[in-house]
Amino acid sequence: MNMRIISRFQFLAFVLALCLFPLVLVGQNKLIVNTDQGHITINRHIYGHFAEHLGRNIYGGIWVGPNSSIPNEDGYRLDVMQALIDLEIPNLRWPGGCFADEYHWTDGIGDPAQRPKMVNTHWGGVTEDNSFGTHEFLNFAKRIGTEPYITGNVGSGSVEEMSKWIEYINFDGVSPMADLRRRNGQEEPWNIKYWGVGNESWGCGGHMTPEYYANEYRRYATFARDYPGSKLYKIAGGANDWDLNWTEVLMKNIPLNMMDGLSLHYYTVTGTWENKGKATEFTKEEYLETLRKAARVDELITKHSTIMDMYDPEKKVGIILDEWGTWFQVEPGTNPGFLYQQNTMRDAHVAAISLNIFNKHAERVHMANLAQTVNVLQAIILTSEDDMILTPTYHVFDLYKPHKDATLVPHHLVTENVAFGQEQLEALHVSSSKSSDGTVNISIANIHPDKNLPLEIDLRGMQAKGATAEIVTAPSVDSYNSFTSKEVVKKSSFKDFKLKSNQLNLSVPANSVLMIRVK
Ligand code: AHR
Repeated sequence: MNMRIISRFQFLAFVLALCLFPLVLVGQNKLIVNTDQGHITINRHIYGHFAEHLGRNIYGGIWVGPNSSIPNEDGYRLDVMQALIDLEIPNLRWPGGCFADEYHWTDGIGDPAQRPKMVNTHWGGVTEDNSFGTHEFLNFAKRIGTEPYITGNVGSGSVEEMSKWIEYINFDGVSPMADLRRRNGQEEPWNIKYWGVGNESWGCGGHMTPEYYANEYRRYATFARDYPGSKLYKIAGGANDWDLNWTEVLMKNIPLNMMDGLSLHYYTVTGTWENKGKATEFTKEEYLETLRKAARVDELITKHSTIMDMYDPEKKVGIILDEWGTWFQVEPGTNPGFLYQQNTMRDAHVAAISLNIFNKHAERVHMANLAQTVNVLQAIILTSEDDMILTPTYHVFDLYKPHKDATLVPHHLVTENVAFGQEQLEALHVSSSKSSDGTVNISIANIHPDKNLPLEIDLRGMQAKGATAEIVTAPSVDSYNSFTSKEVVKKSSFKDFKLKSNQLNLSVPANSVLMIRVK
């Protein structure tokens, strides 16, 4: 009897092995894209950025002042400004971060020579001369064609201070604040939509409990007025990564008609906060640790979103992931308070994985802001005196442009894994969307450091006529751009694929991020 059962199992195993044999021969990776499905728009604000008064982000990065020998236009660095124009960034968050809760906006208006100075206690204890204030920021945003996102001061400010800031910026009629703006040279209101009410109020923004913050939020939001022509999008200060209770308390205690967005911060730290890994030197196991942790943002969004669903099933309130990215040790010899780190192909993969995940959650994630723009954390731009480099992360944002405002289309991916030491992760990471002209956009990251991966893509629901592709890649996962070798990592065109009918076949190069566009 037993023998008969065993032989039946053996027979089944043999049949299964026979069935799987062709799969082993052609490779295990397969992608099905349902191009005629999907209805959710990927908000372009998912591709947003963040510039805090921190280190050489604003001063030296964006702003050098009109008297600088570094080429500038009215004080704005020309090279950085052009790079941001080219990237078409949808929004820019300012002035912090932790800095926002000790910033008093009235110190940053009027004659720069008369502006009071302050100490930037969070970031290096340096003197802030307030030469980059409201006008300088809003005029910069206008020049680069981006939407400003301003964070008000809850921690050390007042309801009156934030309320007057909004009146100063948005009111068109006769009022004390609008008149003051005019006296400072700005006739028209700026009509700024995105306003954050404090930052990390659970920590550097005041160490509040969620219950206390929820009440404070209601006061601030009440006096954050909609003036004619500028309906505000109000963003409540959200949780520190896995603090689900914060989200629960805010959703329970803040009426839905008082809040448009709820922020969330998620940093990818290799090792521990106390003993972080280095930006450019890492083992393959550490490499995978970084990417595995970055990919956990999928679970994080799902968990917060599930709580939000109970109070807001229609997903009216957006998750605003207004700080995300890698956080490594600072570069040796730099001010520890300036958070200056290099940026390798590993960061490019973090960006690709994260953006793919944000796209996937586009129904709930309405905005995200990479931390930060110039010279800080996972920067897209690094500067040294009058020199500038674009980082691998910049090139991924450039590559991903077609996803902005496109319709998310569902896909199904089967991918092999990559493993080193104790770490293991899927090797391929994908997102797919459809632009308004019908072009299908497929972003693919192959995180395997040294294995090209054959991939068969089945494009369902379209008549594919042709395709183009671009790639960001480099010799190794720790490759980076330096001031002496600026183009080790760059974007280039990629032609190594075959499109036949609705089947696209390619070998996805090791350590690469691709964007394929099919018409
Ligand atoms: O991005 C650097 C800092 O990280 C921000 O100021 C703060 O909000 C967060 O803790």
